[in-house]
Amino acid sequence: MAKQDVVKAGDVNQRVGVEVIHARGVDVEKLIKMLVANAAAEFASTYYYYTILRMNLAGHEDYKEICEDARLEDRAHFELITPRIYELGGSIPKDIRDFADRAGCPDAYLPDSPTAANILTVLLEAERCAIRTWSEVCELTFGKDPRTYDMAARILNEEVEHEAWFIELLSMERDNKVRPSGHFRRGEPGDAPYSKNRGFYNP
Ligand SMILES: [Fe+2]
Ligand SMILES: [Fe+2]
Repeated sequence: MAKQDVVKAGDVNQRVGVEVIHARGVDVEKLIKMLVANAAAEFASTYYYYTILRMNLAGHEDYKEICEDARLEDRAHFELITPRIYELGGSIPKDIRDFADRAGCPDAYLPDSPTAANILTVLLEAERCAIRTWSEVCELTFGKDPRTYDMAARILNEEVEHEAWFIELLSMERDNKVRPSGHFRRGEPGDAPYSKNRGFYNP
């Protein structure tokens, strides 16, 4: 859409919600591509693979619980962002294989040697990729597309927490060194205090 274009009355092929962010300088096609890549990373690269990682943390109840929080919150991120793709006039691929191939982060594969330290390393690096990709969405939308920015910032809040959790756990498990995350357990598994609009534990 050219900058001077204005959605005509009754026209359902165009969206004012897109027109206004385009007019403020958002490359909407690029944004949709990034959101699809991020949604795929949440659903496929993390939610699906974290299921396997959590299973293989058998015997470490604390690690299992924290992995589960991160897993369910990543699914909440998929749920939060997917409707936004459609609002912008985009869609997720019809074929889940195509969707998984577009993921903006590597799959969080179970390591060949699935020790707790190796699994925590995979979890940590997956969270780091998420921080980078959601930060890019924040950067692209800041001051221009408040709705996408708000969603991406909520997700980013949780990704930053996830990184801190896995730094704390990996640091102690692998290096026997205290590096606190400031974490205390979520109220419910996968509570998602930012991305689900719930109150959060804040003593
Ligand atoms: Fe996530
Ligand atoms: Fe995460």
